[in-house]
Amino acid sequence: MTRYRIALVPGDGIGTEVLPPAEAALEAVGRRHGIEFAFDAFDWSCQRYLAEGAMMPADGLDRIRGHDAVLLGAVGWPGVPDHVSLWGLLIPIRREFQQYVNLRPVRVLEGVPSPLRGAGAGDVDLVVVRENVEGEYSEIGGRMGRGTAEELAVQESVFTRRGITRVAEYAYALAEDRGRHVTSATKSNGIVHTMPFWDEVVAEVAARHPGVRSDKEHIDALAAKLVLAPGRFDVIVGSNLFGDILSDLAAAVAGSIGVAPAGNLNPEREFPSMFEPVHGSAPDIAGQGRANPLGAIWSAVLMLDHLGHPEAGAELLAAATGALADGVSTADLGGTADTAGYTRAVLDRIGPPR
Ligand code: NAD
Ligand code: IPM
Ligand code: MN
Repeated sequence: MTRYRIALVPGDGIGTEVLPPAEAALEAVGRRHGIEFAFDAFDWSCQRYLAEGAMMPADGLDRIRGHDAVLLGAVGWPGVPDHVSLWGLLIPIRREFQQYVNLRPVRVLEGVPSPLRGAGAGDVDLVVVRENVEGEYSEIGGRMGRGTAEELAVQESVFTRRGITRVAEYAYALAEDRGRHVTSATKSNGIVHTMPFWDEVVAEVAARHPGVRSDKEHIDALAAKLVLAPGRFDVIVGSNLFGDILSDLAAAVAGSIGVAPAGNLNPEREFPSMFEPVHGSAPDIAGQGRANPLGAIWSAVLMLDHLGHPEAGAELLAAATGALADGVSTADLGGTADTAGYTRAVLDRIGPPR
């Protein structure tokens, strides 16, 4: 029996609705593969902020440092400014634990209607590898002259050779196991000064992987091509902001942002990695029991892969996609199941303990 300690941070809104299905699915599939999970739940959220003045306790990061992984729902709620909730919880976890790869696979799954004309299951199978700790998401800068006619806001992007190299190396190594094609998202046509540097460092990494085809696309053109011909892509590597935007776009192309998973990875395994759906807290549907839990469940699959249990992960993903293929899906995918109904269908397909 292999045992893991998993920190659960449901967070806000539908985050609290999609994590219990992921937890139940992990327990069910774990029973078939000799894996036991000890879940420690943490109530870190906007609600906690409103009650206690902080998203998490001062020693919050230390409380989860020793866990094998973190499973997170979503962070953010109306009434608490997003910069407060995000810089108070999500971003510190990504940075403290050097989760410099944000892995975001996108696939058109059987039973999921893509909004693209003619795109069916298997036509889109790509992974966005997003740089996750530097770039445009920097703390350097601020707002000045509040309320005056001269008011301004400045934020410096920070790109480092080490940061670009390691995320690009991850993307190329991944491509070697997949379709042997990396597309780098850039904007190097002279406007954004950091991007020629990004291109140079990515090209150095590319030269070390001659078996992988390398492309680069300006982010604007890439956005259009993702809609017009998503089947052309294999691994897309991008900066923090570009990768963020592309992963929502690609998820929508594949049917719904409710489906999309993410692994915030510390590839060296020096620190825990964090798994969370790509979507947010969805205040517009929170509390109604109709959120799609697949993004969270698929994130749990990424967690199983990361922990070294790809067979268990594949079985869970097959159960989740099997339910879709049998016509059980939530409203965002055009179905009639609620969160509980779809979760039941997934659990039913996992099979009995072995
Ligand atoms: P969102 O992802 O919460 O919602 C966008 C749209 O997608 C909404 O219409 C929502 O109903 C729908 N949607 C999202 N997930 C769904 C699901 N599982 N099933 C069905 N429909 C789903 O994005 P937003 O509205 O930009 O952000 C809301 C809040 O969440 C903000 O506070 C934002 O900062 C936060 N946020 C957090 C994370 C995170 O924790 N990683 C990610 C994105 C947004
Ligand atoms: C995501 C989210 C976050 C991000 C926000 C909520 C800070 O959009 O995980 O994709 O931009 O990283
Ligand atoms: Mn995002």
